[in-house]
Amino acid sequence: MTTPIITSLAPLLDRLFDEAEAASGATRAAVADLSEADRARMMRSKTDYRALYGRLKDVPLAVSRETGTLLYMLTRSSGARTIVEFGTSFGISTLHLAAGLRDNGGGRLITSEFESSKAARARENLSAGGLIDLVEIREGDALTTLQADLPDTIDLVLLDGAKALYPDILDLLENRLGPGAIIVADNADDSPDYLARVRRPGSGYMSTPFAEDVELSVRIS
Ligand SMILES: C[S@@+](CC[C@H](N)C(=O)[O-])C[C@H]1O[C@@H](n2cnc3c(N)ncnc32)[C@H](O)[C@@H]1O
Repeated sequence: MTTPIITSLAPLLDRLFDEAEAASGATRAAVADLSEADRARMMRSKTDYRALYGRLKDVPLAVSRETGTLLYMLTRSSGARTIVEFGTSFGISTLHLAAGLRDNGGGRLITSEFESSKAARARENLSAGGLIDLVEIREGDALTTLQADLPDTIDLVLLDGAKALYPDILDLLENRLGPGAIIVADNADDSPDYLARVRRPGSGYMSTPFAEDVELSVRIS
């Protein structure tokens, strides 16, 4: 039996999660001059997201360890071969997804990030993990970079960029999601329009909040 790549990635992932946890002070400091109300407004804004994430360009903002594990498990259990990720940052979630693809026998992962220093960090991390050959990092605003040249069918989507754009990104991908396709949306509470859409009866999705901050949706028709 061959050893799954996720096993050999454990030291790298552990270090990256430790670094992400250690950056929580820097994350708070990057927005400390904003009032609570301004922070909440920018988080949900369709126009201010670039300014908000510009302030956060040096910090990982990674999914939790549990969500990382969930991403790998969902990739494996669905046998996913094609994945699109909105919001790469340092590539911590990307590593879990790409490891799942590798352990499934291969595939294609397209991920999107508009901060070029973050895309460079993600490239380094994916190279260190031996997974860069499976991943295409598209630099620029995902509203543009995810408009074309996508696989005919997409098995799994991770939404983890600007929260207000989740419905717009779903618009770009939706006609490639067949029955059984999975969408994981991190911190979806900040995207009420997205939640209303995937939870609406008759929407074509089954959707449920999962753990603390994830909305897990499956295309059912
Ligand atoms: C929460 S972080 C992603 C964390 C990453 N998924 C992980 O777990 O390692 C969100 C990232 O999305 C990027 N981002 C936000 N809106 C974007 C957009 N419209 N297009 C491309 N990247 C975007 C931000 O720069 C930030 O790095």
